[in-house]
Amino acid sequence: MMIDFMTLRADFPLLQQKNRGKPLVYLDSGATNQKPQSVIDAMNQYYISDNANIHRGVYELSERATYQYEKVRHDIKEFINAAHTEEIIFTAGTTAGINLVAQSYGRSKLKVLDEIIVSAMEHHSNIVPWQLLAEQVGANLRVVPITDNGEMDLEAYEKLFTARTKIVAIAHASNALGTINPLKQMIQIAHAHNVPVLVDGAQAFPHMPVDVQDLDCDFYTFSSHKAYGPTGVGVLYGKQKLLEKMPPYQGGGDMIESVTFARTTYSKLPFKFEAGTPNISGVIGFGAAIRYLQQVGMQNIAVHEAELLAYATQQLVTIPGLKIIGTAAEKVGVISFVLDGVHPHDIGTILDDHGIAVRAGHHCAMPVMERFNVPATVRASFGLYNTHADIDALVSGLKDVLRLFK
Ligand code: ALA
Repeated sequence: MMIDFMTLRADFPLLQQKNRGKPLVYLDSGATNQKPQSVIDAMNQYYISDNANIHRGVYELSERATYQYEKVRHDIKEFINAAHTEEIIFTAGTTAGINLVAQSYGRSKLKVLDEIIVSAMEHHSNIVPWQLLAEQVGANLRVVPITDNGEMDLEAYEKLFTARTKIVAIAHASNALGTINPLKQMIQIAHAHNVPVLVDGAQAFPHMPVDVQDLDCDFYTFSSHKAYGPTGVGVLYGKQKLLEKMPPYQGGGDMIESVTFARTTYSKLPFKFEAGTPNISGVIGFGAAIRYLQQVGMQNIAVHEAELLAYATQQLVTIPGLKIIGTAAEKVGVISFVLDGVHPHDIGTILDDHGIAVRAGHHCAMPVMERFNVPATVRASFGLYNTHADIDALVSGLKDVLRLFK
């Protein structure tokens, strides 16, 4: 189906406002993206007519809330082509999913001197949970280097495997560089060494079709709020055979089968990993976001954003003194850049005066900044509602930055 992306902006109420008196140009979807009216309506409707705790009540309201919550689990299973609904664990977001795997899988499997492979392009949320685990069990991190254009160094990656390697944790797409990693190949290499792979999918899931069975990843985590849904909710996908053997990560209500002071037994999947009352309205809102993404079509979104990225790259390289950090052949709609003689924070502030929202800083990826020898970058990141006009506004804002600083 052909989608007219120019009309989709109207689905997002927030985008109709002004920023500093100028029409808002929102280019920070990598941090969080805006929500269509249908997501806001679904959450309101839940609180207006269906709010009750789930899995507990015998009354109609609770059954209705439970049905809606569990339906989203089923819809997400279909959306990412998981083999079983039990493989979809609701979390508070990507970070929570990575911490769950580090603490549950990691603490039960890793021993002194075991090794964890991460890459130099990871977000802090795919580094620090592994460092915490490494400190707890006496393991070590091994880091895959990245090339000058921001791609994974696959030769070096393969050489990092030893008999002690116990898990690989890599981003599907880099938040700071935009690089899309050759996941299938990296997963095949890890599996050839009998090592499971966790994928941080936060920056890829909203931008392209994801098929976890085709990727053959062992764990895949993503957030709702970067995928047009509400904050505070996300998903950890894990292969059933791995999840089943993993101990619970947090204890509380809903994750038990029976409790006595002598012994507690745990619920089956997926409830074993969902202690306490979950973010019910968030999950329902995420369900509405998934329906919105299905209507637009993930392949259509990937094509639209690739076209925006090509246009933006072509325009930005014409600006004197501008250098793009991250020029991989395969990228999501993320452009990080620096401008000679102007600090990224100053660029961000001047662009804000033009109504343009970009992120300036280290993007929670300080090792990437170190690798490229820059203190920070400006990052423009796209969502399905962005258009050429947004990029033209960015270019015109940057020309003003140059006028002010030269
Ligand atoms: N991880 C988010 C970003 O890249 C917050 O901006």
